[in-house]
Amino acid sequence: MRKLIFGAVAAMAIASGGFASGTALASEGGVDFPQENWSFKGIFGKFDRPALRRGAQVYLEVCSNCHSLSLLSYRNLEQIGFSKAEVKKIAAGFDVQDGPNDEGDMYTRPARPSDKFVAPFANEKAARAANNGAFPPDLSVIVKARKGGVDYIHALLTGFRDPPADFKLKDGMQYNLYFPGHQIGMPPPLDADSVEYADGTKATLEQESRDVTTFLAWAAEPELEARKRLGIKVMIYLFVLTSMLYVLKKRIWKRVCLDGSDQENPPA
Ligand code: HEC
Repeated sequence: MRKLIFGAVAAMAIASGGFASGTALASEGGVDFPQENWSFKGIFGKFDRPALRRGAQVYLEVCSNCHSLSLLSYRNLEQIGFSKAEVKKIAAGFDVQDGPNDEGDMYTRPARPSDKFVAPFANEKAARAANNGAFPPDLSVIVKARKGGVDYIHALLTGFRDPPADFKLKDGMQYNLYFPGHQIGMPPPLDADSVEYADGTKATLEQESRDVTTFLAWAAEPELEARKRLGIKVMIYLFVLTSMLYVLKKRIWKRVCLDGSDQENPPA
């Protein structure tokens, strides 16, 4: 029994990611990038609410100029602590096309909380034309779509450098330590003080990158916390059930001798 409990505790510790920090993963291009500690990793993981709010701010003020986030609606922001009034105000800052009206014409109106996040470009061609031929991908599930997930995204956002002297950088491309092939068509999107945080947190490059990465992790999996809560409940349930069955088994077999005779009711 003791072994059983120890095993269960060890399994939980491993699952909660206690051993994860300090190691490195390799991206698709074979480049190593550091593995970070994230509050939402492991089975007891939770999103850091203030980080999510700050990350939403970074996305809305910076990334949304080039990247869509098409699977989210503005009202989803209420799940991470924005009030109804705040969401209304955020949505109203973007224009959407609607219609046709009674005259049959399409028209633009400010976005409403029920609208999906407005995309910065009408279509892929327009996006490429504005970005030197490169296409800024939708960020809704980017965390899941890239090997290394959050660690890769954070490394990428903080990985812009001057190219080494012998490196041939194509026109309009940027050198990035972690992008496969090191040439990326995205200009460094973040720098210190790219945003002014509403909660007074100092907006360093590292901080902004961690915050927006946390936000994108939530965007890719808003149900993560509920899923983990359910997982923990299931584990506790199975643990209790196993213990009860074990005790029951002990009781039943206690009375039975190896030769099959019943000790408590010996034959007369
Ligand atoms: C000026 C436009 C612009 C802004 C602003 C911008 N990006 Fe990008 N981003 C791009 C382009 C263009 C690409 C495609 C690059 C390529 O394929 O070479 C890209 C690619 C990416 C990728 C995919 C990298 C990969 O592995 O394929 C991620 C992730 C990303 N951007 C995140 C962000 C985040 C987060 C922000 C906000 C902090 C941001 N971007 C802001 C233009 C932009």
